[in-house]
Amino acid sequence: MKIFKYEELDSTNKFIKSLDNLQEYDIVIAKKQTAGRGRRGNPWTTELGAGLFSFLVEEKEGISIEEYTKLPLIIGYSVLKGLKKIENLDYKFKWTNDVYVQDKKISGILVEKMENKFVIGIGININNKMHSSVENIGISLREITGKEYSIDEVVIEVVEEFKKNYDKFINGKWEEILLEINKLNYLFGKRIKISGIGEIQEGIAGDILEDGRLEVYIGDIKKAFNIGEIHIAK
Ligand code: BTN
Repeated sequence: MKIFKYEELDSTNKFIKSLDNLQEYDIVIAKKQTAGRGRRGNPWTTELGAGLFSFLVEEKEGISIEEYTKLPLIIGYSVLKGLKKIENLDYKFKWTNDVYVQDKKISGILVEKMENKFVIGIGININNKMHSSVENIGISLREITGKEYSIDEVVIEVVEEFKKNYDKFINGKWEEILLEINKLNYLFGKRIKISGIGEIQEGIAGDILEDGRLEVYIGDIKKAFNIGEIHIAK
């Protein structure tokens, strides 16, 4: 595992894709991004002090692309576990891959596919203050504890944790991870709205299922969702 550090990049995900000869788990970290990218084409803007990094993971033979829809969940879970080792807070896993604490988002993940590899980009609010655009919905470790953290330590802890869980996954132990994820399921029992595919639907979130989808009770009907935006209903 090699670490490449930069003062400023447009986006660590974009940059890592342009590098040749990177090994699996080599990491690119930037102090600052000028064009950070979030999911669904949204920008991802952070103040100085956030952990912004990307690494590559190889697609393994024998694991289908459907199985790989679980990858974001495994990454989110690994961020949560890595953070827990650094600071033992009551983190929750918000399907499909965000980490929440005190009802606010502390980490976001962007997974992209490149040939037979996955580019895994992670943003963690560590020592940063929240950007004004996300003040009410995001939170950083430092805002909670008042302490200053080593970003490198957090990043390494998260990638080590991911390695362990990815090995479990490729060795057929997804069920073990799923059990843990369901204990930390932020959405469980919450009234949510689902948009993104067709009309907006509303229901009560249940468990995360074996295939990685989220169970939602819409009236008496139980449905499973694998894509779409989840909002907590007001
Ligand atoms: C989201 O919640 O929408 C995903 C945010 C992902 C942000 C990280 S920061 C490091 C990496 N580089 C990017 O441009 N995006 C990801």
